Amino acid sequence: MLELYKNNQLSDHLPHISEEELSDEQVLKEITSLKKELEDQLVILGHHYQQDDIISFADITGDSLQLSREAAKLSKKYIIFCGVHFMAETADMLSSDEQVVILPDLRAGCSMADMANKNEIDKAWNFLTTHTQDKIVPITYINCTADLKAFVGNHDGSICTSSNAKKVISWALEKGEKLLFFPDQHLGRNTCFELGIALEDMVVYNPMMKDGGLTPEQVKKAKVILWYGYCSVHQGFNKEQIQAIKKSSPETTIIVHPECSFDVFHNADMAGSTSFIIDTIKKAPAGSKFAVGTEINLVNRLAQEFPDKSITSLSPYQCLCTTMYRIRPRWLLESLRCIKKNSPLNVIKVDPETTRLSLKALDNMFKI
Ligand code: 13P
Ligand code: SF4
Repeated sequence: MLELYKNNQLSDHLPHISEEELSDEQVLKEITSLKKELEDQLVILGHHYQQDDIISFADITGDSLQLSREAAKLSKKYIIFCGVHFMAETADMLSSDEQVVILPDLRAGCSMADMANKNEIDKAWNFLTTHTQDKIVPITYINCTADLKAFVGNHDGSICTSSNAKKVISWALEKGEKLLFFPDQHLGRNTCFELGIALEDMVVYNPMMKDGGLTPEQVKKAKVILWYGYCSVHQGFNKEQIQAIKKSSPETTIIVHPECSFDVFHNADMAGSTSFIIDTIKKAPAGSKFAVGTEINLVNRLAQEFPDKSITSLSPYQCLCTTMYRIRPRWLLESLRCIKKNSPLNVIKVDPETTRLSLKALDNMFKI
């Protein structure tokens, strides 16, 4: 996270509108009026994992793929991204030079994205390409920093999201003999398994170990090399929770995000991106029961939206994305006030060369 501060030259001024200055109610009121006043030049994007008070101000809500697509089409000058840092970077790269992307709180990072950095990826690539003649195609999950997207663009790979990982991985395996997938080992493993690749043909590269913990023989033999990264939120679900629900309520459908571990993915009834989860629950008949393995804000919102269905979290513990959670109305208000003063705060700007290479990788994804 420190890196994030350095990269963005975070000013020592952290926006903070105190409770003494404004009550929660006044904050919401001022957001409503500033949003109206600035509507010609402003769009607010909200990822599905944001809290309700933020979602209520979002002009567009969606999963990573939808939001990156929408970001590419936008014409408004200011894009306030209520999500995490890598999403705002993607929006900046896909928008025009005149547009300004703002992340209301720069501390909103993604612990999974932080599990792979450019030095580690370069080191891994050197090691892997030294020990195999096979063509390796790199694929990165969109949850990563812009310089990793650029690495993939520079090596003719593609980006993927949780909703198109299957298509992107199939494309990669037609292009080359091996796949390097980062940073989320679970999305990589679950998707490759669905595509018929055996678990024995996948190995994990752990950047904290010498040579990633792999021998040259393992590299030669493997079809898929998975980076040792994971989402701490989705790692909170386990097979025992599924078994307990299956026992107490066999009619409940277990639906999970593919960032969950293989055990969870394999034992669930259904798996897919946040949009897939929402659509499935929306379309289900009244009286349906779901136990959902994804971030708690989305699960709670679905439960409120569909009171005729039983929607609970798969985990008895709060599976909360603490970094998404940092985007609070007070920060959103500060962003709006700064736009009004014509001095936007917490602007996310990716350098031109990183953008050029990342766009190659993003273009590949859009084409696939
Ligand atoms: P999607 O929005 O693509 O389903 O991903 C979930 C997630 O963890 C975003 O960080
Ligand atoms: Fe990152 Fe997981 Fe939070 Fe998504 S839910 S932003 S992958 S930590």
